[in-house]
Amino acid sequence: MRSAILFAFILAFAGRALALNIVIGGSVGNVSATDFLAVQDTKLNADCQSQCQPATQAIQACNDDDACLCDTATVAAVVACQQCMFTDIIHDNRKMPDPRAGSAPALSAYAAACLASPANVTVPATSLALTLPSNWDGPSALPLNLGETIVAVAAGAVLGVGSIVILCTM
Ligand SMILES: *[C@@H]1O[C@H](CO)[C@@H](O)[C@H](O)[C@H]1NC(C)=O
Ligand SMILES: *[C@@H]1O[C@H](CO)[C@@H](O)[C@H](O)[C@H]1NC(C)=O
Repeated sequence: MRSAILFAFILAFAGRALALNIVIGGSVGNVSATDFLAVQDTKLNADCQSQCQPATQAIQACNDDDACLCDTATVAAVVACQQCMFTDIIHDNRKMPDPRAGSAPALSAYAAACLASPANVTVPATSLALTLPSNWDGPSALPLNLGETIVAVAAGAVLGVGSIVILCTM
């Protein structure tokens, strides 16, 4: 009985076709394109609604089609949303509330997923660039600390392995 439940559980996950497997890491892990902009932050969602709503709609309109999700128009909409969150976070001078928010590494992960998908789309790096706001007067460093990212990814890996161990010893 127990193994039947486990089997069903594995089937459910294996059968779930992920439209783009975007490897974010950290607290978010891997997400599909439909979850790429599902940032959990009330202020960002409010401030960037006019940039992020069209991007979310573009992703939904692609209906899990990899080639569509990775085409120029969809990527441009997604980058516009990320650019808004990036600018907003810098403006508020706070830490990224979510590894998907205003994040150049997250956009690179999106592009990597496009390349790894069956559609095999190369998204030009230039189309992914986030620019610092024009009124920025601080050092030109991204608000993401590389060391922190590595620690977050490592912690995610430990959690991931831990849950597999739990699953296997059930
Ligand atoms: C995330 O995706 C990568 C690349 O496909 C894969 O190697 C890794 O196992 C995935 N991690 C999880 C937690 O699904
Ligand atoms: C993706 O396309 C490139 C050329 O456009 C090709 O060299 C490469 O082998 C393809 N990769 C896969 C996984 O199909």
